[in-house]
Amino acid sequence: MDWPLINLLFTAFLLLASAAIHGAQAVSMLTGTVFCDQCKDGQISLFDYPLYGVKVAVTCSDSNGQVTLLREETTNWFGNYAMKFDGTPDLSGCYAQVSSGSGGQGSNDCVAVAGPAKSLRLVFRIFDMEMYTVDPLLSEPAQPMSMCPRSYAPVSAPVIPVTPPVPVEPPPVARLPPLPPMPRLPPLPPLPPMPSLEASACPYWNWTMPGYECYWKAVTPDMKVAVVFGLIAARRYGTDMTLRQGMEGRGDPYRTLLREGTTALLNSYNSIQFPYHPLGVIHHMNWALLGSTRLVLHTAIRFMRANSGSGKVSCKFTPCK
Ligand SMILES: *[C@@H]1O[C@H](CO)[C@@H](O)[C@H](O)[C@H]1NC(C)=O
Repeated sequence: MDWPLINLLFTAFLLLASAAIHGAQAVSMLTGTVFCDQCKDGQISLFDYPLYGVKVAVTCSDSNGQVTLLREETTNWFGNYAMKFDGTPDLSGCYAQVSSGSGGQGSNDCVAVAGPAKSLRLVFRIFDMEMYTVDPLLSEPAQPMSMCPRSYAPVSAPVIPVTPPVPVEPPPVARLPPLPPMPRLPPLPPLPPMPSLEASACPYWNWTMPGYECYWKAVTPDMKVAVVFGLIAARRYGTDMTLRQGMEGRGDPYRTLLREGTTALLNSYNSIQFPYHPLGVIHHMNWALLGSTRLVLHTAIRFMRANSGSGKVSCKFTPCK
């Protein structure tokens, strides 16, 4: 099981950074997310969540219209996938699409129908580094979930069967230079220990108190907000802010959301009885950031309530040894 975005993207950043410093090796990175479109409405809505353990295929077509599979990668616990390519091939004519569930992992109810392929977009190119992203990909169950509102009946948009991956409309593309084989990324650190079975919810100030560092299991205070919460958060909070800095924010609704969202993420890893699952925290956070300031405040307050234990659950911290 691969442990997450955090490490994968962090590794990616380090690889990109070191390549830039040494100027030795050109690299390209591609990152994206897959969501379960539970209600089959063809868009990311409140009911949808990032999907773990599904395969994403990147296909490219050459000048003869010949489609080739470039790479296949499985989404991590946060529904993210990342691919690294040596060199700076032109990937702008390539497409990413959900190709299949990996079987036995994650929420495989949601891999009956793959959403449409999305084209790769170049985000930036600096020195010998290229960063590509793809709009969120969708994967759908065979039937909309029973809790979906009626108005979320399946739309008649054409859906593409799960396999094989087919790009929507292969545009005329320049021939790709041959790609060298991808070196394996360094092994990812092991999963954090199981969350506690005991109910515990701690407000942000307890998380930042000295002596409780051992409770930061899955994420560390020095990790970047952008790496943990993804590209949407990076756009709002920048790429430099650490989780520790994020915990200090106040006043502004967006900083409050970040503080309470990070705290909720920590609580969700710490106690299995916390009302939010880590994926749910990430999802609600991203959803809020895509919405209005009112939704941001609303989400922050809901996180805050959960972090305070809603008057029922207390903070079960004992100082770390
Ligand atoms: C949490 O913080 C409050 C305020 O600083 C403190 O009184 C309380 O003892 C802390 N809780 C735990 C479990 O450490």
